Amino acid sequence: MAGEAGRDIAPAKGKLGVMLVGLGAVSTTFIAGVENVRRGRGLPIGSLSQMGTIRLGKRTEKRSPKIKEFVPLADLQDLVFVAWDPIPDDAYTAAVKAGVLERHEHLEPIKDFLQGIKPLPAAFDQYYVKRLQGTNVKRGKTKRELAEQLREDIRSFRKSAGVSRVVIVWCASTEVFITPGPAHQSLATFEKAMEQNDPAIAPSMLYAYAALMESVPFANGAPNLTVDVPALQDLAEERKIPIGGKDFKTGQTMMKTVLAPAFKARMLGLAGWYSTNILGNRDGEVLDDPESFKTKEESKLGVLEYILQPDQYPELYGNVFHKVRINYYPPRGDNKEGWDNIDIFGWLGYPMQIKVDFLCRDSILAAPIVLDLALFFDLAQRARLSGIQEWLSFYFKSPQTAPGLYPEHDLFIQHTKLKNTLRWLMGEEQITHLGIEYYEKA
Ligand SMILES: NC(=O)c1ccc[n+]([C@@H]2O[C@H](COP(=O)([O-])OP(=O)(O)OC[C@H]3O[C@@H](n4cnc5c(N)ncnc54)[C@H](O)[C@@H]3O)[C@@H](O)[C@H]2O)c1
Repeated sequence: MAGEAGRDIAPAKGKLGVMLVGLGAVSTTFIAGVENVRRGRGLPIGSLSQMGTIRLGKRTEKRSPKIKEFVPLADLQDLVFVAWDPIPDDAYTAAVKAGVLERHEHLEPIKDFLQGIKPLPAAFDQYYVKRLQGTNVKRGKTKRELAEQLREDIRSFRKSAGVSRVVIVWCASTEVFITPGPAHQSLATFEKAMEQNDPAIAPSMLYAYAALMESVPFANGAPNLTVDVPALQDLAEERKIPIGGKDFKTGQTMMKTVLAPAFKARMLGLAGWYSTNILGNRDGEVLDDPESFKTKEESKLGVLEYILQPDQYPELYGNVFHKVRINYYPPRGDNKEGWDNIDIFGWLGYPMQIKVDFLCRDSILAAPIVLDLALFFDLAQRARLSGIQEWLSFYFKSPQTAPGLYPEHDLFIQHTKLKNTLRWLMGEEQITHLGIEYYEKA
């Protein structure tokens, strides 16, 4: 444990390679966004690491540096990007197709830069993402061979890009629903399953395995099982590599993890929560397949159960009807509409309703999360934090936790946990918000 002196953190020297799995809407919005920010053409809005401050010490001390000045994070100028994708479009073409960023304002001025990012062949199998077809794919007799090719990609990127450190963020599609099974229990069974082309080993797991074998932190932005299995968690612990996931917490679920804690704090009951989404991007198309939707549904449904604790408050939350729907609706593109109908009840059981209609932009909300995860996972690695990084659960819909722990979903508890971890790393006092010392003077 770190004492008051904080943790010894290696400096963020040299370049940080950000390897993205998937070069679709989220990845291109992230890359193009960072490049626009670097050229002074926009602000990294939504990024806690870039825009956020952190209060240190007592309120009377008035010490609130920016997070990026308080902890030694990689500078945006030092980020270098590469991606894998089964679709061969370069980052410019992919960004134009995704239709998120305004072409003349944010893509044309950096066209050369984006065209320079061409996707590496992916470890891809349509069995796991039914609605996609890809031509830019790796060939190999076994899954193990594909994993070895991914390792080679990481090694050659390190060399060719001259980066001193690498992080991987999964920004690729949602795969079909997989539950943990015997193949995932130990490294030996996992490696054997790769060699036998066991269907329990999804492509996302090959990237995670390759990352860990190459000492690269791995963050999972989709709800896929991926690195949330004992075999890979043990490997991460053993090799002292940070991992985390799952599923970026962006629009509707972010709102849910703000509102539900408010109802619980005021001891208001909940009868039902009906969430619909209409979206028309490729993610929406992939999620239109029932097997991929099932993976997303599990991720989105979990949050209320953990926040509301129906076992402790049966009168308030013992009978909640919770439904989540995602409907593919092409006219909306990336501009999703997430609509929530919430039936709550108060004093003596009187019913009330709340409607939330979030006309959001999916990738605009996700891009700053990718940035923060890349920077914080790199920080974690340099601070020798390894295994599951629960302090980054702020960014995930279904946060990974140590075995036996339930996940903390409340956005503000997650926010406090993140900032307190940064204080702890730097040897600053934890902030408990007690504040009695302002009133009871010794
Ligand atoms: N945008 C958000 O708000 C948000 C929130 C939470 C999670 N996510 C998740 O992030 C992911 C990316 O979203 P998006 O909108 O960019 O989707 P997208 O469809 O635009 O991009 C995903 C890309 O991944 C590629 N891909 C699929 N399988 C691959 C593989 N095995 N290897 C390499 N590439 C592969 C696809 O070809 C595609 O180009 C999705 O899983 C989505 O569910 C997004």
